[in-house]
Amino acid sequence: MGHISVIGSCNMDLTVEADRRPQAGETVMGKRLVVSPGGKGANQAVAAARLGEEVYMIGCVGDDPYGSFMLKALKDSHVKTDYVSVLEGVNTGTAHIILAEGDNSIIVIKGANEKVTRDVVDKAFDVIRTSDLVMLQHEIPMDTIGYIIDRCYEEKVPVMLNPAPYMDIPEDWIEKVTYITPNEHEAALMFKGMDRDEILKSHAGKVIMTVGKDGVLYGEKEEVVHVPGFSVSVVDTTGAGDTFNGAFAAGRCEGLSVKEAIRFANAAAALSVGKLGAQGGMPWRKDVEDMLSCKK
Ligand code: RIB
Repeated sequence: MGHISVIGSCNMDLTVEADRRPQAGETVMGKRLVVSPGGKGANQAVAAARLGEEVYMIGCVGDDPYGSFMLKALKDSHVKTDYVSVLEGVNTGTAHIILAEGDNSIIVIKGANEKVTRDVVDKAFDVIRTSDLVMLQHEIPMDTIGYIIDRCYEEKVPVMLNPAPYMDIPEDWIEKVTYITPNEHEAALMFKGMDRDEILKSHAGKVIMTVGKDGVLYGEKEEVVHVPGFSVSVVDTTGAGDTFNGAFAAGRCEGLSVKEAIRFANAAAALSVGKLGAQGGMPWRKDVEDMLSCKK
C-alpha cells in the first residue's frame, strides 16, 4: 500500500444535464440537476483511496453544508481528512457543470480552495514529507503549488503535477517534478513550439500525456509508447482524468512499471465514465482487477 498526499481542491459539483448548451443570451430548459462531490484534488484522492492506497487530503472547505458533504464523501472513500481545514465564513468551492452533447463545460468558483496557502501545507508537512508520492493540480493558488514543489524537491519527495486547468508554469517546476500529466491540449500550451513526439522523447518517463479515449502516450528510451484506452459506453466523462491520475499514482506506488500503471489507470478511467458525477463511477480495487482480468 502506498502513502499518498493530495494537496488540492474540494468542490461541490452542480451538474445540469441538457440536450444542448445555451448560446450567449439564450435560455434552454435542462433535464435535471445533480449535486455531487468533486474538485480535481478530492477526485484524485478518492480515486487512489478506493484502489487501496493510504491517502491524505490536504485542503480547505467552508463551514457550509457543501463543506460537510465533501468531508463525508472523502471519508466514505477512506480518504484521511485530518488536514482538511474547515474555514469559518467561507464558501466551499463549487463547479458549475453543463453536461450536453456528450461532453461537459465547467466553470469553477474557487471559494475555500483559494485559502490553501503555505500555512496549510506547513501544518501537514510531516505527512507530506513521508509520502511515496505527492499529487498536485491547478485549482489551488499557484504560489502554494510552487512552494510545495520546492519543498518536496529539497526533501526528495516525488511529486506528480496534473496541470489542469491549464495555466503557464515556471520551467523549473517541470524539472523538479517526477511526473507531469497534461492532456494533449495542455501539453501543446506548456511546451510551445514542440511537437508531440519531441515533448515525449525529451521528457521520457516524466510526461504522461492523456489523449482522451485513445489512451495515453509517454516516452521511453527515445521511443513514444502508446498505451490504448478501453472502449466503453460513456455516461459522463467528468473526473475521468482525475481517476486516471489517482490510479496511475496508486499503480506506481505499488511498484508497477510506468506502462503497467498506465494500463491499470486506463482501466480505472474507463470504468469511471459509466456513471454520472466525477466520483459516481470511480471504481474500487476489485472493479479494476475484474476488468483487467477479463481483458487478458
Ligand atoms: O476534473 C473534474 C473536476 O473539475 C470536477 O469535479 C470539478 O469540480 C472541476 O474541478
